[in-house]
Amino acid sequence: MICLTLSGSTLMENAETIRSNRAYIDAAELRVDYLNEDEQKKASLFPAMVDIPVILTLRRTIDGGRCGLSERQRRSILLSALEGDFAYVDIEDDIKRSDVEDKAREKGVKIIRSFHDFSGIPDDIYSRIYKAAEKGDIAKAAVTPHSVADLLTLFHVSDELKGIDKIIIGMGEWGVASRILYKRCGSMLTFAASGTAVAPGQVNARDLKLLYRADRISDRTAIYGVIGNPVYHSTSPQIHNPGFHAINYDAVYLPFLVDNIRSFFALAEYLKMRGFSVTIPFKTQVLMFLGRISREVKQIGSCNTVVRVPGMWKGYNTDYYGFLSPIVRDIESGRIKSALVIGAGGASKAIVWALRNRGVKVTILNRTLSRAADIAALNFCEFDTLENAKKYEGTVDLVVQTTSVGLYPDFDLNPIEGFRFTGREIVYDIIYKPRMTKILTEAEKAGCTLHFGEEMLLEQGKLQFEMFTGYHYPKSVSDE
Ligand code: ATR
Repeated sequence: MICLTLSGSTLMENAETIRSNRAYIDAAELRVDYLNEDEQKKASLFPAMVDIPVILTLRRTIDGGRCGLSERQRRSILLSALEGDFAYVDIEDDIKRSDVEDKAREKGVKIIRSFHDFSGIPDDIYSRIYKAAEKGDIAKAAVTPHSVADLLTLFHVSDELKGIDKIIIGMGEWGVASRILYKRCGSMLTFAASGTAVAPGQVNARDLKLLYRADRISDRTAIYGVIGNPVYHSTSPQIHNPGFHAINYDAVYLPFLVDNIRSFFALAEYLKMRGFSVTIPFKTQVLMFLGRISREVKQIGSCNTVVRVPGMWKGYNTDYYGFLSPIVRDIESGRIKSALVIGAGGASKAIVWALRNRGVKVTILNRTLSRAADIAALNFCEFDTLENAKKYEGTVDLVVQTTSVGLYPDFDLNPIEGFRFTGREIVYDIIYKPRMTKILTEAEKAGCTLHFGEEMLLEQGKLQFEMFTGYHYPKSVSDE
C-alpha cells in the first residue's frame, strides 16, 4: 500500500489532498497532531469523508509529532476519534495497555505498534518488532539510517522477520531506497508525501505510484539505480523507469545515496541488482570492484555504467557516446575539425578522448594547468590556462564546456567570461541544469549553433538502457 501522510490543519483540507492524490494512493494517515484544536475534536468524522482506509495517529513531540498534551488528554482525543471508522490506530510501543487499545480491539480497528528513532537504528529493532507482532499487532519501526551499511540492515530485517506484519521506514536522506523498495523490506506500506516540496527522504505519492511503481515491485522485479553523492537531483529515473514500462519489463530504477562504495556493492549483491549508473564522485572509485571493463573504460579511466554479468560486475562508459551522438554528423562531415574543451575533470577525460578518437584537434583549457596537461599528454593534444581563453577566439569549430561553472544555482557564471564567439562555432555545454547556461546564452547572441547537456544525458541514458535490458530504448514513452 502507498499511504499518504496528511498534515493539513483541517479535515476538509486533508480530504481535498486525498482527492487530488487519489489515483496514486491506497490509504492515508490522518495526523491529528497537525489539525487545529477544534478540528481535532471532530477527527471521528474523517473516515466517512473519504473512500480509503485511514490510519489514526496523534504523534507526540518526542516521536517527531506536534502533540504536546498530557497522556490523559491525548487518550481522550484518540478515544473520541475512534468513534469514526478508522481502519488502523497508531499506538506507540511504550504505551501500557489503555482504554484506547481496548476500544480499538472492540471495534476491530487494527493497531499499529510504532517506535521512532531519529538518531539511528536501535540494536533491539528485531526484538521490538517481534514483540509487537506477538500481540497480534502490526509493528512499525521508523528509524534513521546514516549510511549504505545502515540501509542494508533495514533490508536484512525482512529476511529475519519473514511472515510478520510490519512497517519499516528508513527516515532521512539515507532511507529513500527503503521507502521505494518497501516491499523488499517486508513492509506492508510506505508513507508518501503529497506535494513536490518534501522533507529529505520523503518521496511524493505520484512518483511512488507512476515513476517507481513501488506497489508493484516483487521479488522478481529487477533492480537498477544510480549511485552518487549527491544523487537525488539525478533525472536518470525519469529516463529508465518510463523505458522499462514501455517495453513491459518488470524492473525499477532508483537513486542510491552512497557514502562507501564497498558497502554499496554489498547492498547491490543483496538486492541482486542487475546494473546501475555511476555519477560523481564514484566514476573512478568504482573501477576496483569491477571484474571486467570495456575498452572505453580502460582508455578513459572512468566508468558510468555497471552491469551484472555472470559472477561479476562489468563496467562501461556511455558518457563518451552520449556526448558524441549530437555532433557526430558534424564531425563526419568535416564541419568540426578542431575543438576547445573547457575543464579537465572526469567528464573532460571522456570528452577529450571521444573527440581525439574521431580525429578532432583538441585544446584543453583549465584553471589548474597541470590537470589539463595530464589529459593532454594522454590524448596528444594542446592545453592552456583559462585566462588565455581569448587567444583562441575564432580559431575553433567547437567549444565544449565541461566544468561545473554555471551549474544551478550559479547560472550567471561563465568559465570563459568575455570570450567572443564569431557565430560560426558550435557550442556545447554538458551542464543540464539549467538548460540554457550563461555561456550558451552568449553563444546564441553571437549566432552559434548550440547543444545542450540534456541531449548528452538522454543519449548516454538510452545506451545504458540497452546495456541494462538488451532492448533499444523505446521510441515513445509516457510517464503515466
Ligand atoms: P567532473 O568529473 O564533473 O568533471 P571534477 O573532476 O571535479 O568534475 O572537475 C571539475 C572541473 O571544473 C575542473 O576542470 C575544475 O577546474 P580545476 O581542475 O582547476 O579544479 C573546474 N572548475 C570547478 N570550479 C571551477 C571554478 N570556480 N572556476 C574554474 N574552473 C572550475
